[in-house]
Amino acid sequence: MLRGMKRRAALGLLSLSVAVATFAACGEDDSGTGGGTSTPTGTTTSSGGAGGVGGIGGTATATGGMGGMGGSEGGGGMGGGCVNSLPTITAAPAKLSETGLYSDIASKTISVDAQGFEPQFKLWSDDATKQRWAYLPECDVIDNSDEDNWSFPVGTRMWKEFSLNGVLLETRLVHRYGPGTSDYLFATYVWDAMGDDADLTENGATDVNGTTHDVPPTNLCGRCHGPHAAKGGLPSRFLGFGAVQLSHSGSGVTMASLSNGSALMVPNAAGYTVPGTPTDQAALGYFHANCASCHNDSSDGLLFPPLDMRLRAADSDVTQTASYLDLVNQLIGNFNGPCSHLIAGQDVANSCVHYRMSNRNSAMAPNVQMPPIATDVVDPTGVATIEAWIATLPMP
Ligand code: HEC
Ligand code: HEC
Repeated sequence: MLRGMKRRAALGLLSLSVAVATFAACGEDDSGTGGGTSTPTGTTTSSGGAGGVGGIGGTATATGGMGGMGGSEGGGGMGGGCVNSLPTITAAPAKLSETGLYSDIASKTISVDAQGFEPQFKLWSDDATKQRWAYLPECDVIDNSDEDNWSFPVGTRMWKEFSLNGVLLETRLVHRYGPGTSDYLFATYVWDAMGDDADLTENGATDVNGTTHDVPPTNLCGRCHGPHAAKGGLPSRFLGFGAVQLSHSGSGVTMASLSNGSALMVPNAAGYTVPGTPTDQAALGYFHANCASCHNDSSDGLLFPPLDMRLRAADSDVTQTASYLDLVNQLIGNFNGPCSHLIAGQDVANSCVHYRMSNRNSAMAPNVQMPPIATDVVDPTGVATIEAWIATLPMP
């Protein structure tokens, strides 16, 4: 409902935003498309310092909200006329209400700076309900010249809210504040019992607001988003906002909306289709969202075990996907469990992937569960998805 309200607000501002679209074009993208000149004609009072959550800032941000129109369309090249509505910050604010997500946290009104999005494949978070939003800087475009590893403009912010049965738990923030591979800020905010605001929480929390939900300490974020000393993550840092994840026709930001709004350096409104039957797609997508942040072949991925469970945007043959090649009918490498293969076709009991997904750590079995962090509860739908896939695969 909040998302609907926000989108209506953004649409209402669309006509105004056209006037500022060229103005929003900025010469500072690293895309190399800059160089044109245009004259700022629109009236905008967007101000970096203001945090862009006010009504007026909203006018300018509707432009960015629709995907930074003009960033490539207008040829870039504003020579400094463009100001992002949300400034780049180097430290996480103390309160969620100060991060730019809400224009009015009391009424839970999402700022027009933030657009809702939903990856088509989701990370299981112990049955928590999650909502996600992105702020894309108006003055730049996403570099998607490599569709599998998008590079986001400095200033990008994304949030993910967790709730359980209507109780607000935590809202996480990832912000790119500089051009370096580690210039990302990770933060999480734990909601107060009344759901009025949420406080920056670095050391984690257990059983939040009367639920069984645990908040991870901030130093664990890098194990999936990267970089972390123990490895894990992907160079993009943003894990659910990319070509595979946004190739859907559902609500919120999609490949089509980004392309039509000129937010992508290489527009691609049609997006991509995961190969195979619905059973294949569900399994490959499950691994992509739940396992591939660690098990991937990028510079950030785990070196050991050498597994790659990532979908690639251009994948067109199930048997040539990384998950199929690395898992199906391959002997287990290191794990010492009651199973012989990573996945054994038509044999759930000998599929260690299934075994590790269907268990959680205990004193008896301390290092069993996958993923190893950020979950205490088995995902019944995820396990069923993989069982259904195993039933379709050839025997070893
Ligand atoms: C177990 C791995 C894992 C851990 C640990 C983790 N994340 Fe994520 N996160 C993901 C995945 C995968 C997605 C995308 C899929 C989804 O949202 O369901 C994601 C999505 C997000 C998003 C939405 C933007 C995006 O990247 O798609 C934010 C914001 C976020 N995480 C913040 C955090 C913060 C902050 C922490 C630490 C407190 C954290 N995450 C810990 C795996 C993880
Ligand atoms: C936060 C990072 C992370 C995530 C996410 C993750 N893993 Fe792992 N995985 C590891 C690490 C580290 C190891 C090596 C240590 C071990 O075996 O426990 C490993 C090992 C494994 C192994 C053993 C491979 C062998 O040959 O011995 C399997 C199987 C596995 N993971 C499956 C999965 C599956 C399936 C998922 C998703 C449902 C997943 N992992 C998600 C970090 C991760």
